[in-house]
Amino acid sequence: MLWFLSLLLVLLGCLGNDMRVNGAQSYRKGKATETHSCHYVRQVSDSMRSPEEMRPDGLNSTFYKKYTEAYGIPILGSNKVSDDALKRACYTVRYLFAGHSGVRNTFYKLGGRFAIMAETEVTLDVPEHSKMGSIWNTRARGLGGTLPTPLTTGAEENLLCTKTDRYPKEDIFLHEAAHAVDLIAARVAIPTFVKAKEDAFKNAKAKGLWDNTYAMTNSVEYFAEGVQSYFNVNNEGPAGGDAIHNNIDTRAELKTYDPLLYKLIEEIFPCDNAYLKRCDSTRAKEQAQTLKMSCNTADKDIPDNLNNPSCPDSRPIDCLVWMIGGECQRNPGYMNSNCKASCNACPKPPADCVDSSTWCEAWAESGECKNNPGYMLSNCKWSCAQCYV
Ligand SMILES: *[C@@H]1O[C@H](CO)[C@@H](O)[C@H](O)[C@H]1NC(C)=O
Repeated sequence: MLWFLSLLLVLLGCLGNDMRVNGAQSYRKGKATETHSCHYVRQVSDSMRSPEEMRPDGLNSTFYKKYTEAYGIPILGSNKVSDDALKRACYTVRYLFAGHSGVRNTFYKLGGRFAIMAETEVTLDVPEHSKMGSIWNTRARGLGGTLPTPLTTGAEENLLCTKTDRYPKEDIFLHEAAHAVDLIAARVAIPTFVKAKEDAFKNAKAKGLWDNTYAMTNSVEYFAEGVQSYFNVNNEGPAGGDAIHNNIDTRAELKTYDPLLYKLIEEIFPCDNAYLKRCDSTRAKEQAQTLKMSCNTADKDIPDNLNNPSCPDSRPIDCLVWMIGGECQRNPGYMNSNCKASCNACPKPPADCVDSSTWCEAWAESGECKNNPGYMLSNCKWSCAQCYV
């Protein structure tokens, strides 16, 4: 389990380094869909490889050859990985992002994606992870994504439950995906999330919950281990813990043992769909399952201020990362002039400057403000950036 710990140090290293410049500075175009094509693995097209689609550096055309998708979120691999592994990972992605529309859309907008390593591939084969120390080739079979590098990886043998899996008793891909949900989407889409997570972690620590388990490493592992238990795909340890797990490994046990963590997780996955476990499932069963969608009550996309076309951030992704790190308060001079949207420092729209159709944003994105100004500039003032002229 050491690899999780070290993984986190790497992640926090990236976040701590917030002020560095990342590559592409834009949100992914379009929107998350509500459909998937998990049964269909096809070739990666050239248009998918740009830094705008796959920030910060785009996709490596030598390594990445095929993909499938759920809600527009790609699950990628080289030619060495089996189609079945991509399809299984696609199911988990489809499952995890079904429940909360804001978390799903945010993850999509922020360039979220997944890649699966074949059994014969290792961490440094993945182009986005190729600069890491070679110790990662033996230490990890998957890494969670972050805002600076929104790629999450998983391993074929764990997804398909084959005999060579080093971690046969737990769903490691789901653990890594939970990191991505936490560190990319929930912290942005649910304004109360970060504080609620830290509060739950402090409470657990003070009460000695999870003592002697990996969950107590920090609040990020606490969340990911909790998500595994919430979906009944954690490994059971002894009461009192064995340094990695204790005996709390099911949703029912989690609810009684740590209600604050349970509530936090339930908010992100509110639909109560049944998760088809990797070792008892088939692609046909997964394909046939209907998932309830968007059971969240507050229907928010990424915060409205980030979508403000009248008052964009000068460097959208950096601004967002800095805002989350508290820079709007710490460094208001710079932030309130360069990151107005993220810091909520834009002028407020007058009451008469609104969109009259929920389609306005999509129309605006497809160029209608220019192509059809007669209708658009009077009915889609907000999306066509007519508010402050
Ligand atoms: C792209 O992937 C190939 C094959 O894995 C690798 O040799 C090459 O260094 C990668 N290039 C970049 C820019 O990551």
